Amino acid sequence: MAHGHEIPSTKTCVRLNIGKMTITEKLLDSLKSQFLLGDNGFHGWSHWLRVLENGRRLAPLTGANLKVVELFSVFHDSQRENEGFDPGHGQRGADFAVEMRGRWFEASDQEMDLLYQACALHAKGLTQADVTLQTCWDADRLDLGRVGIAPRIDRLCTPAAKKIIEHQMKMPLRKLTP
Ligand SMILES: [Fe+2]
Repeated sequence: MAHGHEIPSTKTCVRLNIGKMTITEKLLDSLKSQFLLGDNGFHGWSHWLRVLENGRRLAPLTGANLKVVELFSVFHDSQRENEGFDPGHGQRGADFAVEMRGRWFEASDQEMDLLYQACALHAKGLTQADVTLQTCWDADRLDLGRVGIAPRIDRLCTPAAKKIIEHQMKMPLRKLTP
């Protein structure tokens, strides 16, 4: 029997979490279709997906709950009503996630509690919290470059995110030229 092209066993699938993706196309499409602002501003789905990438990079380093971090990335700004001052958007994002649990995604009570807090508090500038919340907030703050702001190290929560920014700041400018 040929090796190397075998279909992974159920055991392997479970280990790799195949078929158990948190951010499905259906979830993302549903979130996009209810979002009031489209993708032309600073808080649209391009931003959500960059936060998702940042979160996926950070979570294995911080020990955060990856599922919560992934859900945070697509829910935290999903209820924004404008691109500027919108102090209630984090709370609305948290409430919306609660409403959509069981319809668009599954999460345990503990995960839901973390997701709720991460969304509700994400714009308050906090740095001290559970490591999963910290990872969510850092994933968001690492994307501040899109609005022309370099993330400040003292506003980041986790050593992993601080290291990423420190590394970026050390890079010679010519290396950043396309
Ligand atoms: Fe954000």
